[in-house]
Amino acid sequence: MKIWLDDGLQDTETARVSVFDHGLTVGDGIFETLKAVDGRLFALTRHLDRLTLSARGLGLPDPDHDEVRRACAAVLEANPVPLGRLRITYTGGHGPLGSDRGEHGPTLVVALGESSPRPDSTAVITVPWTRNERGALTGLKTTSYAENVVALARARAHGASEALFANTVGQLCEGTGSNVFVVLDGEIHTPPLASGCLAGITRALTVQWTGAKETDLPLDVLERADEVFLTSTLRDVQAVHRVDARELPVAPGPVTAKAMRVFEERSGHDLDP
Ligand SMILES: Cc1ncc(COP(=O)(O)O)c(C=O)c1O
Repeated sequence: MKIWLDDGLQDTETARVSVFDHGLTVGDGIFETLKAVDGRLFALTRHLDRLTLSARGLGLPDPDHDEVRRACAAVLEANPVPLGRLRITYTGGHGPLGSDRGEHGPTLVVALGESSPRPDSTAVITVPWTRNERGALTGLKTTSYAENVVALARARAHGASEALFANTVGQLCEGTGSNVFVVLDGEIHTPPLASGCLAGITRALTVQWTGAKETDLPLDVLERADEVFLTSTLRDVQAVHRVDARELPVAPGPVTAKAMRVFEERSGHDLDP
């Protein structure tokens, strides 16, 4: 396996990042996860734009899109896989042990892992911890993901693949690595960005392609929604068949099944929508 580190390809076994990297010591970094099908990336331009937004939010220098594109192409070429998860990580770089950032400039890593197609439906749980819709990192895709690690571990312990959060005022927000949609009276709704959720790329495309509405929703909408589905880069549109103890009558239900079809068709026609 080869990865890209800073300015070139390196062997995974021998590539080295400083033990003082601010991404390691304080989680001062950002990332993107992209889907690679037969060596081709989906929605690369949108992912690079979000990487820049996240960098600006943390006060990191703008990533050089040409360089990141070159790094992605080199990693994909060096590691051919049918379905891959390509990860771009960009951190504050070598720094002091505290929260002040160092002067050394950022670290860039591009790595690829093999992935397998996700099932058409999955189980989710809700968790008692909140997303903060007013935090300094709200809306940024940072490497400070330990809250997601804890919540996802709880989901796994309950036989689920995702944990859903409410925000600090009890509104439905998002999952650890996905956005959430509900179907009410035949209409698709998803929480607005003001709920504190990440501006998911799959979410934006799903809203655009299905006409889903952005609506403030209480967390307990999950107890009465006719259908629930998740969106993310590696899930695309994925139906939910169980929320906590509640089994959904059919999953994918008719509205979700249509959204899945539309997403598959539209994303198949344009790799960089
Ligand atoms: C917290 C969070 N919400 C939502 C998403 C979904 O975003 P995308 O569709 O861009 O993968 C992610 C991405 O993995 C995420 O980490």
